[in-house]
Amino acid sequence: MRHTNSETNNEEANLGMLTVYMEEKEKTYSDKFLRDVAFSFLAATRDTLTAGLCWFFWLVATHPEIEIEILEEMNEKLAGNLNCYKNEALSKLVYLQAAIYETFRLYPSVPFNHRTPTKADIFPSGHHVKPKQMLLISVYSTGRMEEVWGKDCLEFKPERWISEQGEFVYVPSHKFPAFHIGPRTCLGKDMALIQMKVMALTILKNYHFHAVEGHPVCPNLTITINMKSGLKMRISKRS
Ligand code: HEM
Repeated sequence: MRHTNSETNNEEANLGMLTVYMEEKEKTYSDKFLRDVAFSFLAATRDTLTAGLCWFFWLVATHPEIEIEILEEMNEKLAGNLNCYKNEALSKLVYLQAAIYETFRLYPSVPFNHRTPTKADIFPSGHHVKPKQMLLISVYSTGRMEEVWGKDCLEFKPERWISEQGEFVYVPSHKFPAFHIGPRTCLGKDMALIQMKVMALTILKNYHFHAVEGHPVCPNLTITINMKSGLKMRISKRS
């Protein structure tokens, strides 16, 4: 698993996240630790992003007025330069970002989190927890609670993430825990959002999606929230 010196001198090898761990001067990690890091990055990235993208494209296809808003924003804010993937340009796409967050509110890629206390504790709510008790936090339900998100909590409304001044509204992670909360928050959140934006931009500027009528769409609440029967779409090229 380990690189030789000549391999690590290679500029490309230095770009790898795993290489950062392997080259740390103050600490040496075991091969098992490095294997687990590699696995967790692969597992954390692949299924979360693919689930997020499936729900995003399905929601956009079934809400044509939102697709138009996304396209208009792309044309306006990227001034016709739709091949621009620089972070500075992507960060101007507030409506697209809002549509992505709204997707994760309704269909969080990781629909529940599991935690176990090491010792007995009492929650601020007064609930007692015992050591080794299994606690499940349903991110899926939190995103659909009327008392948290209002009467329209089941609607796909990117506007709820945008202020009157047209800025993206910051929502604390205990209200929107799709990337988890506290010290074990997702390390790849910003990267995931950039990847989602790039995919959305690249695909939507070229293609229009139509959801296939009659195809059942319902979530499979496993570790990641996949579509139970997959995503079926008709795709047409934009003129
Ligand atoms: C849509 C995309 C993503 C979502 C919704 C997501 C969500 C999450 C969630 C909920 C956790 C907490 C899991 C737990 O402790 O129970 C997590 C952890 C983590 N994520 Fe992501 N993630 C995404 C993409 C990524 C990407 C692209 C990367 C890496 C480049 C990444 C790296 C990680 C890592 C390393 C952890 C473990 C952090 C720790 O335990 O300290 N994630 N992610």
